[in-house]
Amino acid sequence: MIGTEPIEGGIRMPFVNADPKKLHENAIELIGDQWMLVTAGTRAKSNTMTASWGGLGELFSKPVAYVVLRPQRYTKIFVDENPTLSLTVFPPAYRKTLSYLGVASGRNEDKIAKSGLTLAFSENGTPYFEEAKLVFLCRKLIAQEFRPECFVDRSIIPEIYPNGDFHTLYICEIEWTLVKEA
Ligand SMILES: Cc1cc2nc3c(=O)[nH]c(=O)nc-3n(C[C@H](O)[C@H](O)[C@H](O)COP(=O)(O)O)c2cc1C
Repeated sequence: MIGTEPIEGGIRMPFVNADPKKLHENAIELIGDQWMLVTAGTRAKSNTMTASWGGLGELFSKPVAYVVLRPQRYTKIFVDENPTLSLTVFPPAYRKTLSYLGVASGRNEDKIAKSGLTLAFSENGTPYFEEAKLVFLCRKLIAQEFRPECFVDRSIIPEIYPNGDFHTLYICEIEWTLVKEA
Protein backbone atom coordinates (compact mmCIF):
# COMPACT_ATOMS: atom_id res chain seq x y z
CA MET A 1 0.00 0.00 0.00
CA ILE A 2 1.15 3.55 -0.55
CA GLY A 3 0.30 6.85 1.04
CA THR A 4 0.82 5.47 4.49
CA GLU A 5 2.08 7.02 7.68
CA PRO A 6 2.48 5.66 11.22
CA ILE A 7 -0.69 5.66 13.23
CA GLU A 8 -0.93 7.71 16.37
CA GLY A 9 -3.50 7.79 19.12
CA GLY A 10 -5.57 4.77 19.81
CA ILE A 11 -4.87 2.42 16.94
CA ARG A 12 -2.45 -0.33 17.71
CA MET A 13 0.31 -1.34 15.36
CA PRO A 14 0.81 -3.09 12.97
CA PHE A 15 -1.72 -0.98 11.11
CA VAL A 16 -0.76 2.16 9.26
CA ASN A 17 -3.04 4.88 7.95
CA ALA A 18 -3.71 4.83 4.24
CA ASP A 19 -5.32 7.18 1.79
CA PRO A 20 -8.42 5.27 0.58
CA LYS A 21 -7.89 6.77 -2.90
CA LYS A 22 -4.57 4.97 -3.14
CA LEU A 23 -5.62 1.44 -2.21
CA HIS A 24 -4.50 -1.13 -4.75
CA GLU A 25 -7.77 -3.00 -4.56
CA ASN A 26 -10.75 -3.51 -6.80
CA ALA A 27 -13.78 -2.61 -4.67
CA ILE A 28 -16.10 -5.08 -6.42
CA GLU A 29 -13.71 -7.99 -5.97
CA LEU A 30 -12.78 -6.89 -2.46
CA ILE A 31 -16.33 -6.80 -1.11
CA GLY A 32 -18.07 -9.24 -3.44
CA ASP A 33 -15.47 -11.99 -3.41
CA GLN A 34 -13.28 -11.51 -0.35
CA TRP A 35 -16.24 -10.41 1.81
CA MET A 36 -16.02 -8.15 4.84
CA LEU A 37 -17.19 -7.97 8.42
CA VAL A 38 -19.58 -5.23 9.44
CA THR A 39 -18.95 -4.55 13.12
CA ALA A 40 -20.61 -2.09 15.47
CA GLY A 41 -21.21 -1.63 19.16
CA THR A 42 -19.44 -0.52 22.30
CA ARG A 43 -16.74 -1.83 24.60
CA ALA A 44 -19.59 -3.33 26.65
CA LYS A 45 -21.19 -5.20 23.72
CA SER A 46 -20.48 -5.42 20.02
CA ASN A 47 -21.61 -7.66 17.20
CA THR A 48 -20.33 -8.52 13.77
CA MET A 49 -21.60 -10.17 10.59
CA THR A 50 -20.25 -11.06 7.19
CA ALA A 51 -21.33 -8.96 4.22
CA SER A 52 -20.62 -9.28 0.52
CA TRP A 53 -22.99 -6.64 -0.78
CA GLY A 54 -21.76 -3.08 -0.59
CA GLY A 55 -19.43 -0.65 -2.22
CA LEU A 56 -16.84 2.07 -1.99
CA GLY A 57 -16.93 5.46 -3.65
CA GLU A 58 -17.31 9.15 -3.15
CA LEU A 59 -20.34 11.15 -2.01
CA PHE A 60 -20.70 14.68 -0.63
CA SER A 61 -17.00 15.11 -1.50
CA LYS A 62 -16.13 12.43 1.06
CA PRO A 63 -14.80 8.90 0.66
CA VAL A 64 -17.70 6.60 1.49
CA ALA A 65 -18.63 2.97 1.89
CA TYR A 66 -22.12 1.58 1.65
CA VAL A 67 -23.52 -1.59 3.14
CA VAL A 68 -27.01 -3.10 3.17
CA LEU A 69 -28.43 -4.93 6.18
CA ARG A 70 -31.61 -6.95 6.36
CA PRO A 71 -33.92 -6.11 9.26
CA GLN A 72 -33.44 -9.47 10.99
CA ARG A 73 -29.66 -9.08 11.41
CA TYR A 74 -28.71 -8.72 15.08
CA THR A 75 -25.81 -6.54 13.92
CA LYS A 76 -28.35 -4.02 12.60
CA ILE A 77 -29.33 -3.12 16.17
CA PHE A 78 -25.71 -2.22 16.93
CA VAL A 79 -25.33 -0.31 13.67
CA ASP A 80 -28.52 1.64 14.37
CA GLU A 81 -27.59 2.43 17.97
CA ASN A 82 -24.08 3.72 17.29
CA PRO A 83 -22.80 6.56 15.11
CA THR A 84 -19.83 4.58 13.79
CA LEU A 85 -19.03 1.09 12.52
CA SER A 86 -16.10 -0.71 10.94
CA LEU A 87 -15.71 -2.71 7.77
CA THR A 88 -12.87 -5.21 7.88
CA VAL A 89 -11.32 -7.38 5.18
CA PHE A 90 -9.23 -10.43 6.04
CA PRO A 91 -6.49 -12.61 4.56
CA PRO A 92 -7.69 -15.82 2.84
CA ALA A 93 -6.91 -17.93 5.92
CA TYR A 94 -9.94 -16.40 7.65
CA ARG A 95 -12.45 -17.53 5.05
CA LYS A 96 -13.96 -20.19 7.34
CA THR A 97 -14.27 -17.64 10.13
CA LEU A 98 -16.13 -15.29 7.82
CA SER A 99 -18.39 -18.13 6.70
CA TYR A 100 -19.23 -18.88 10.34
CA LEU A 101 -19.91 -15.21 11.13
CA GLY A 102 -22.19 -15.10 8.09
CA VAL A 103 -24.39 -17.98 9.27
CA ALA A 104 -24.46 -17.80 13.07
CA SER A 105 -26.30 -14.97 14.81
CA GLY A 106 -25.11 -12.99 17.81
CA ARG A 107 -28.66 -13.33 19.09
CA ASN A 108 -27.99 -16.99 19.87
CA GLU A 109 -24.29 -17.22 20.67
CA ASP A 110 -21.20 -15.18 21.46
CA LYS A 111 -19.99 -15.18 17.87
CA ILE A 112 -17.00 -12.94 18.40
CA ALA A 113 -15.63 -15.10 21.21
CA LYS A 114 -16.24 -18.29 19.21
CA SER A 115 -14.63 -16.84 16.08
CA GLY A 116 -11.29 -16.45 17.87
CA LEU A 117 -10.90 -12.96 16.39
CA THR A 118 -9.47 -10.19 18.56
CA LEU A 119 -11.79 -7.26 19.04
CA ALA A 120 -10.06 -3.88 19.29
CA PHE A 121 -11.39 -0.35 19.56
CA SER A 122 -10.35 2.82 17.81
CA GLU A 123 -9.85 6.04 19.71
CA ASN A 124 -13.51 6.98 19.27
CA GLY A 125 -14.61 3.53 20.44
CA THR A 126 -15.38 1.90 17.11
CA PRO A 127 -14.89 -1.89 17.23
CA TYR A 128 -12.69 -3.58 14.63
CA PHE A 129 -10.56 -6.73 14.42
CA GLU A 130 -6.81 -6.94 14.83
CA GLU A 131 -6.51 -9.85 12.38
CA ALA A 132 -7.89 -7.79 9.48
CA LYS A 133 -5.64 -6.79 6.62
CA LEU A 134 -7.75 -3.74 5.84
CA VAL A 135 -9.98 -1.71 8.15
CA PHE A 136 -12.37 1.07 7.25
CA LEU A 137 -13.47 3.06 10.29
CA CYS A 138 -16.74 4.63 9.21
CA ARG A 139 -19.29 7.18 10.39
CA LYS A 140 -22.89 6.84 9.26
CA LEU A 141 -24.19 9.56 6.97
CA ILE A 142 -27.43 8.06 5.68
CA ALA A 143 -29.61 5.14 6.76
CA GLN A 144 -32.55 4.42 4.49
CA GLU A 145 -34.70 1.35 4.10
CA PHE A 146 -35.37 0.25 0.54
CA ARG A 147 -39.03 0.72 -0.34
CA PRO A 148 -40.79 -1.32 -3.05
CA GLU A 149 -41.84 1.78 -4.99
CA CYS A 150 -38.19 2.84 -5.35
CA PHE A 151 -37.23 -0.18 -7.45
CA VAL A 152 -36.85 0.73 -11.13
CA ASP A 153 -36.19 -2.94 -11.94
CA ARG A 154 -39.16 -4.47 -10.14
CA SER A 155 -38.03 -8.02 -10.94
CA ILE A 156 -35.52 -7.66 -8.09
CA ILE A 157 -38.34 -7.62 -5.53
CA PRO A 158 -39.62 -11.21 -5.89
CA GLU A 159 -36.10 -12.49 -6.56
CA ILE A 160 -34.33 -10.92 -3.56
CA TYR A 161 -37.22 -10.02 -1.26
CA PRO A 162 -39.81 -12.82 -1.44
CA ASN A 163 -40.40 -12.27 2.30
CA GLY A 164 -40.50 -8.49 2.13
CA ASP A 165 -37.40 -8.11 4.31
CA PHE A 166 -36.00 -5.11 2.50
CA HIS A 167 -32.45 -4.07 3.31
CA THR A 168 -31.58 -0.81 4.97
CA LEU A 169 -28.89 1.03 3.06
CA TYR A 170 -26.17 2.70 5.14
CA ILE A 171 -23.90 5.16 3.44
CA CYS A 172 -20.93 5.93 5.66
CA GLU A 173 -18.01 8.30 5.54
CA ILE A 174 -14.69 6.46 5.65
CA GLU A 175 -12.93 8.40 8.40
CA TRP A 176 -9.87 6.17 8.68
CA THR A 177 -8.40 3.51 6.43
CA LEU A 178 -5.98 1.17 8.19
CA VAL A 179 -3.83 -1.32 6.36
CA LYS A 180 -1.23 -3.89 7.29
CA GLU A 181 1.82 -3.74 5.10
CA ALA A 182 2.62 -7.12 3.58
C1 LIG B 1 -20.84 -14.41 2.15
C2 LIG B 1 -21.98 -13.78 2.93
C3 LIG B 1 -22.39 -12.51 2.62
C4 LIG B 1 -23.45 -11.89 3.32
N1 LIG B 1 -23.80 -10.61 3.00
C5 LIG B 1 -24.80 -10.00 3.69
C6 LIG B 1 -25.16 -8.65 3.39
O1 LIG B 1 -24.54 -7.97 2.57
N2 LIG B 1 -26.21 -8.11 4.07
C7 LIG B 1 -26.92 -8.82 5.02
O2 LIG B 1 -27.87 -8.29 5.60
N3 LIG B 1 -26.57 -10.11 5.32
C8 LIG B 1 -25.53 -10.70 4.69
N4 LIG B 1 -25.16 -11.98 5.01
C9 LIG B 1 -25.87 -12.70 6.08
C10 LIG B 1 -25.38 -12.37 7.50
O3 LIG B 1 -23.98 -12.34 7.58
C11 LIG B 1 -25.92 -13.46 8.43
O4 LIG B 1 -27.33 -13.45 8.40
C12 LIG B 1 -25.41 -13.37 9.86
O5 LIG B 1 -25.66 -14.60 10.49
C13 LIG B 1 -26.05 -12.25 10.64
O6 LIG B 1 -25.53 -12.29 11.95
P1 LIG B 1 -26.15 -11.45 13.15
O7 LIG B 1 -27.58 -11.90 13.32
O8 LIG B 1 -25.27 -11.78 14.33
O9 LIG B 1 -26.06 -10.01 12.75
C14 LIG B 1 -24.11 -12.59 4.33
C15 LIG B 1 -23.69 -13.91 4.66
C16 LIG B 1 -22.63 -14.48 3.97
C17 LIG B 1 -22.19 -15.88 4.33
